[in-house]
Amino acid sequence: MAKKISINEIKIGMVFTEPLLTEDNNIVIQAGVPIKEADYNRLVRWGIKNLITNGEIITDEKNISKEELSYNFLKSNEEVNKNMVEPEYKYLYNFCITLYNEFITQLQETEVYDKAKLKFIVNKIIQLVTKYKNEIISYMALSNKEYDYITTHSINTTLISIIGGKEYGLSDNEIELLGISALLHDIGMAKIPSEILNKSNKLTDEEFKIIKTHPVTAFKNMNKTNIFNSAVLDAILQHHEQYNGNGYPRKLVGEKISLFARFLAVSDAFEAQIAYRSYRKTKTGYLAMKSVLAEASNKFDPKVLRAYLNAFSIYPPGTIVQLNDNSIGTVTSINHDAPLRPKIKILIDKFGERIFENVVKDLKEDEECFILKVLDKDEYQKDVKK
Ligand SMILES: [Fe+2]
Repeated sequence: MAKKISINEIKIGMVFTEPLLTEDNNIVIQAGVPIKEADYNRLVRWGIKNLITNGEIITDEKNISKEELSYNFLKSNEEVNKNMVEPEYKYLYNFCITLYNEFITQLQETEVYDKAKLKFIVNKIIQLVTKYKNEIISYMALSNKEYDYITTHSINTTLISIIGGKEYGLSDNEIELLGISALLHDIGMAKIPSEILNKSNKLTDEEFKIIKTHPVTAFKNMNKTNIFNSAVLDAILQHHEQYNGNGYPRKLVGEKISLFARFLAVSDAFEAQIAYRSYRKTKTGYLAMKSVLAEASNKFDPKVLRAYLNAFSIYPPGTIVQLNDNSIGTVTSINHDAPLRPKIKILIDKFGERIFENVVKDLKEDEECFILKVLDKDEYQKDVKK
């Protein structure tokens, strides 16, 4: 029996067992052919409100285009990934968040900086970095639970800084001090009124001025305590300075900025791109790195930036890529001596078939094969609809 289908129910990619007709019996879409965006737009342009068909929607995946299948698969794969964060990582990460919240509460109530607790957290984070370095960025991008700015941003920035610091070759003692600096770099934000901190609209010049006081506020408060050395204090005071002299509060240039502050500037920018924010989606590691690089022109210390690039590579683990044979996979680990040739877990083979077994291609071993492009799930969706 003929069915009437409202144009609002039509979705791009839908396939019917019988042709779709206009109400005056003109065929607009043939049976078995997926509806393209151009078809849909044409129907809208013609002012067609309803279509008629004797057929049914084909739901069998074999009839969905390869691209559609790939996109759906990537989406479901992402859901799976969310549950694949190592329980031990999740436990230690959440433990650090809890300890850091305790630290802040104690600081607010008693004005005491519990340095032993900070050291303990830093050492837990070093443990996480040692064990999960390759997974950290994808885990960070996957977490989308309530993002408490000071706590989560500080823990994430510390993770990123320690990875960068290790790659740069800092000593164990320096790594610990860099970690403490990263944990405390935005502690001055705790003094900013919450209406400003949580404002979703654009800040006024006056409000922005208030935000910009956070490095100096933190420096002054911590300096009074006499428990932090100058490496930590300088890092906190200078973490918004820029290598090109356009930062604040003192517009310091180049190596006049403390080394740790130069690390924090990169970590801060990278974290801001990758982690969850209520007003936008997370970026994949690749896009986050691209955004940081795009703004890098002289803003960051090139040697420090290089260390981060080496550590995270241009294709950080978790990046979804298409290879030159058209297969699609996710980067599982980096070959440090060949950063453009990581190991890829194949999700969809060159024939468009899903792969459920664990097939890992090491691009370093297979010289014929290379990464054609990075697939961002949103950009990819746009491509599919064309
Ligand atoms: Fe800051």
